[in-house]
Amino acid sequence: MVKVLFVCLGNICRSPMAEGVFRHAVRQAGLESVIEIDSAGTHAYHVGEPPDARAQATAKHYGIDISGLRGRQATAGDFHKFDYVLAMDRENYDNLRRICPAGLHDKLKLFLDFAPHRPEREVPDPYFGGDSGFHRVLDMVEEAAAGLLADIRARHLPARSAGQRG
Ligand code: 4NP
Repeated sequence: MVKVLFVCLGNICRSPMAEGVFRHAVRQAGLESVIEIDSAGTHAYHVGEPPDARAQATAKHYGIDISGLRGRQATAGDFHKFDYVLAMDRENYDNLRRICPAGLHDKLKLFLDFAPHRPEREVPDPYFGGDSGFHRVLDMVEEAAAGLLADIRARHLPARSAGQRG
């Protein structure tokens, strides 16, 4: 299994949207049996809560149901479990770096590292803004999800050619 963890601040907006979009892409590629996906927050404000209603509505607009996800806080143990620990912004990245066990820092990246053609390097926090911010997040995570899937195929699944199912 290749294991991917998406991390934002509260785990109710950006990282559950990234989780839902990436799950959708992985399912479409027929790779759900080889890629495990989760999300978490660097803070504990929203532990146990479902995604923000605006995040759910935006995902639903794209045919993606994230209503069943629940918030949890990222832990040092996540760095042992996951192959990719992907921060939505630099603040999340710095907070994760502080709890990352020695020798595992290579697993930590900014999610938008997988969308190198976009001008932004961070997925902006949409929590205090309007609906347009959530749609912008979805666009960004969709592009980065495609880049991430290509990276996983190249590094971890070399025997499976792009577009091949199963
Ligand atoms: P997220 O958004 O990090 O994308 O889940 C936020 C959710 C909650 C808060 C901030 C950002 N908050 O301050 O409660």
